[in-house]
Amino acid sequence: MTAQRPDVARAAALLRAGELVAFPTETVYGLGADARNALAIGKIFAAKGRPADHPLIVHLPDASHLERWAVDIPEVAISLAAAFWPGPLTLILKRHPSVPDAVTGGQDTVGLRVPDHPLALQTLREFDGGVAAPSANRFGRVSPTTAAHVREELGDNVAMILDGGPCAVGIESTILDLSGGAARILRPGMLDAVAMAVVLGYAPKFGGQQNAPRVSGSLESHYAPRTPMQLVAVAALEKTAREALGAGRRIAVLAAQPLAFSHGSLVYCPASADPAQFAHDLYARLRELDATGCDLILVAAPPAGESWRAVADRLRRASAGSK
Ligand code: TXA
Ligand code: MG
Repeated sequence: MTAQRPDVARAAALLRAGELVAFPTETVYGLGADARNALAIGKIFAAKGRPADHPLIVHLPDASHLERWAVDIPEVAISLAAAFWPGPLTLILKRHPSVPDAVTGGQDTVGLRVPDHPLALQTLREFDGGVAAPSANRFGRVSPTTAAHVREELGDNVAMILDGGPCAVGIESTILDLSGGAARILRPGMLDAVAMAVVLGYAPKFGGQQNAPRVSGSLESHYAPRTPMQLVAVAALEKTAREALGAGRRIAVLAAQPLAFSHGSLVYCPASADPAQFAHDLYARLRELDATGCDLILVAAPPAGESWRAVADRLRRASAGSK
């Protein structure tokens, strides 16, 4: 095990004191508070500008903490935790009565995960409890994947930002609902249905039940850059770009292949043809493209297929508000 950094002890002390600590995970940076402290949780909603009825994920040091947060834990939850924790998987389980309503948004379930990042794990172990943390961005904006992004989003509204470098995965965890009946994927992530099916013994379906809990990540128009963004089929990219330029718009293009022409009002940004690398880069690229001052971001639609599902989901939501 690596030596513990001095800022980990400070982070744990601040959490104990009811303060907000932003910390790295393998997916995106989280905005953390003591999940047993309703006042501290209130600071998360204030800092993010997030509606208070949206539930938060509780981050745990390891799966042995599950029983303090959930009841009626199905056997398969233990198997999934053993297979994929620490890792980018959030399990929705029936809440333990002791979990504050502020965390669950008053629902009878709770989201739990063990993040795979050494700084997060050291802090959680030192704190020895659950840390409620949404992504450390303002509500509805692009999630942060570096400490600098967190500073841009939240500035002085957070007592401390633990800098653990760029996040390895780059998009939010897969959310799997195990709170009743067959498992369902509420939010796709880079841990995909194929991997989970091996442990579950069946392929989980996507989407919540009717009357399912609210998932802010399930809102259309989420994870969005400030600049309008449009998803365009690769075959239509050049035509769409020429039309926008013809209309006097300054455009940025995110695509695996550069366009066959250049133009003074066109910025090309290369995208990876590999889904894991694309996910890793996605939010940083959207921030860069936002900063170019262009009028429109055109993104080449990703290929079909399970390995691109989570990326396609985030791109669809990021462009949903621009139509
Ligand atoms: O990768 C991640 O999951 C990151 C890192 C920081 O761990 N966190 C994250 O948190 O993405 P947030 O709050 O931005 O998104 C959490 C999602 C929300 O869409 C929320 O509605 C959903 O999890 N969620 C939390 N508890 C839930 C519950 N009990 N039932 C259904 N959805 C829940
Ligand atoms: Mg979020």
